[in-house]
Amino acid sequence: LDIAQRASTGGLPSAARVDELIAEAHARYRGHGEGAVADYIPILAEADPAGFGLSLVSTEGGLHEAGDVAVAFSIQSISKAFVFALVCEAIGHRAVHERVGVNNTGLPFNSVIALELNEGSPMNPMVNAGAIATTAMLPATSGEERWQLIRSGLSRFAGRELPLDGEVYRSEILTNQRNRGIARLLDGYGRLDAEPEETVDIYTRQCALAVTTRDLAVMGATLADGGVNPVTGARVVSAEVARDTLAVLAACGMYERSGEWLFEIGLPAKSGVSGGIVAVAPGKGALGAFSPPLDAAGNSVRGQRACAFLSRALGLNLF
Ligand code: DON
Repeated sequence: LDIAQRASTGGLPSAARVDELIAEAHARYRGHGEGAVADYIPILAEADPAGFGLSLVSTEGGLHEAGDVAVAFSIQSISKAFVFALVCEAIGHRAVHERVGVNNTGLPFNSVIALELNEGSPMNPMVNAGAIATTAMLPATSGEERWQLIRSGLSRFAGRELPLDGEVYRSEILTNQRNRGIARLLDGYGRLDAEPEETVDIYTRQCALAVTTRDLAVMGATLADGGVNPVTGARVVSAEVARDTLAVLAACGMYERSGEWLFEIGLPAKSGVSGGIVAVAPGKGALGAFSPPLDAAGNSVRGQRACAFLSRALGLNLF
């Protein structure tokens, strides 16, 4: 394969070449067998481990896809990136920086020890504690209003009304004692701006919004495009907020593996336990990947491999 070693400042190759490389990435990793499907949320254990889709959306709105791109899955932790952006847009990034933080914990996404070690600071909005605290910061007068702001905001990023997967929501809400504990602990430290049970409920719903790889790619391309959705043409957040979000993703988007990811792939990205990954190439576009088997940190194995290949082949690495 002729892999273009473009400078990261160059544009994407021709549309036909991008199509070819997406198909190549899918063919290369579709038979890959490592990783395990998440099962701490019972319904996720039923996901097809062979499922694998890749979508790339450019900042011009061009679409390139291969594999299971019409399969809907719950967005899970990838929602954290876009809720963070909405909160920054609503109240400014300084408030989130001060209250939640922007540094990596170096510990798993649902760590309670991380909270205790840092005197109640969640450290960043991409781990569960920080995401729950961030959801609570969105200005709203009721839980219902907060939920609608999140759902409509994430839908603007995707360019379509994102449905709630009620089965995933119910499965998680019956088994999420740990997140409830984290919210109580945050509240005990005086770091939660809304009622803990209600906030966890809304956070659980935001994680259960159903997306496809195409949705993830459009959402990521909106960040790549300085906050303007390249498909609908609508401005979703300011250019400054898009930049703030990408900075946090670079530092914390792949949890305790964020450094390795940046070292290998060189792009801001966010993963979720249902197997989604969004990786953003500023000014160029974004990749949406889906494949349920995960590594120990909770990141899709095939998704990581495909992103690594495509980052190199398309010359996306920022460094
Ligand atoms: O709160 C949770 O545990 C899930 N709703 C989301 C976690 C997640 O996606 C972690 N990502 N890899």
